[in-house]
Amino acid sequence: MKAIRGATTFEIDCAEQIRGCVKELLDEIIKQNSVKMTDIIYILFSNTSDLHSFYPAKAAREAGYSNCALFSALEPEIDGALKKCIRVMLLINGDFSPKHVYLRGAKALRKDISGKYNIAIDGPAGSGKSTVCKKIAEKLDILCLDTGAMYRACALKCIEADADIQNAAEVSNALKSAKIEVKYENGCQRTLLNGIDVTDKIRTPQISMSASTVSAHPEVRSKMVELQRQIAKEHTCILDGRDIGSNVLPNAEFKFFLTAKAEVRAQRRSAELKQKGVNQAYESVLKEIIARDEQDRTRKTAPLIQAADAILIDNSDMNIEQTVEYILNKIQEKI
Ligand code: DC
Repeated sequence: MKAIRGATTFEIDCAEQIRGCVKELLDEIIKQNSVKMTDIIYILFSNTSDLHSFYPAKAAREAGYSNCALFSALEPEIDGALKKCIRVMLLINGDFSPKHVYLRGAKALRKDISGKYNIAIDGPAGSGKSTVCKKIAEKLDILCLDTGAMYRACALKCIEADADIQNAAEVSNALKSAKIEVKYENGCQRTLLNGIDVTDKIRTPQISMSASTVSAHPEVRSKMVELQRQIAKEHTCILDGRDIGSNVLPNAEFKFFLTAKAEVRAQRRSAELKQKGVNQAYESVLKEIIARDEQDRTRKTAPLIQAADAILIDNSDMNIEQTVEYILNKIQEKI
C-alpha cells in the first residue's frame, strides 16, 4: 500500500469549478502513478475555509471514484497558508514509487507542516545543479542558495584587485575588503560584492575557472561556509555546490549528488554560452570542464565529493524536468 499526496487550487468558489479541480487532480494522480481507480482504498480531502460551494468528496464521487471510502475535512485558518486550496491523500493498493501531484497554484507540503529542512545538491560543473535547484525551490516555495556564486564573487574581487589567485596571502589580502552578500528578488538570488550587484558579471568562463582556484584556499572556504551555514540555519533552503552534503551541512535532511558524463555537461555548457552570445568551441568548453572537475575534486580542503548518504543521480540521459521530478519525488516521500 502507498500513500499519495496532492493539492490544487481554485479561483472561484462555485460547484462547477470545484468539480473540475477535484476531477483534474484525482485523474492526474491516477495517470502519473499508473494505478487503477479500483486500487484506491480511500481518499481523504481537506480544504481551506474559503470553500463553501461543494464538498470535494462529493465531487470525487461524481467523477467516478465510487469504489473507495471518501472523506472531506475543513482545515483551520493558518497564517500565511495558501488560500483556496484543496489537499488530498489517497491510500492505494500496490507497490510502486509514489508520485505526489501538485496542480495550479498548489505547492508541495505546507510550510507549517513540513517544518524546516535543508536540501544539499552537489556535483560537478554542468550537471544542471543550478537550474534544477531553482526549479525545486520554486515548486517547494523555499529559498535557493547558489554557493558557487559566492566563490565567483570572491574570484571577481581578486581579479579586480590584481591579486595572484594561486597565492593564499594575496587572495586573503584582496578579500579583506570584500563584503559578499546574497539577497532575494522575486525568489531569485542576487549576489552582491561590496553592495554592488555582480550576479551577471560573475558568469564568465574566466570567473568560472578563477572561482575554482580561489575556492581551494582554506581561508576563503571558511568565510563562505560560515555564511552558507548561517543562511541554512535560518531558512528552509536548497543549496547547490561542491561540498554542501559532505562539509557545509553534513546533517542536511536531503542530499543528492548530481552528475553526468563530461561530454554531456560540456554540450550543455556550450549551448548555454551560445544562448548568451558567447562563442566558445565545444572542445575548449570540454577541456575547461575536465580541468575544473579535476581541480575541484583534488583540492585538499573540502573537495568535490559525494557524501556517503547522498543519492547519486547521473542525469546524462535525463532532461531538467525529469531530474527535478526525480528529486522532488524523493523529497516528498519523506516530508
Ligand atoms: O557551481 P559554480 O560553477 O558556480 O562554482 C564555481 C566554482 O566555485 C567551482 O568550480 C568550485 C567552487 N565551489 C566550491 O568550491 N564549493 C561550492 N560549494 C560551490 C562552488
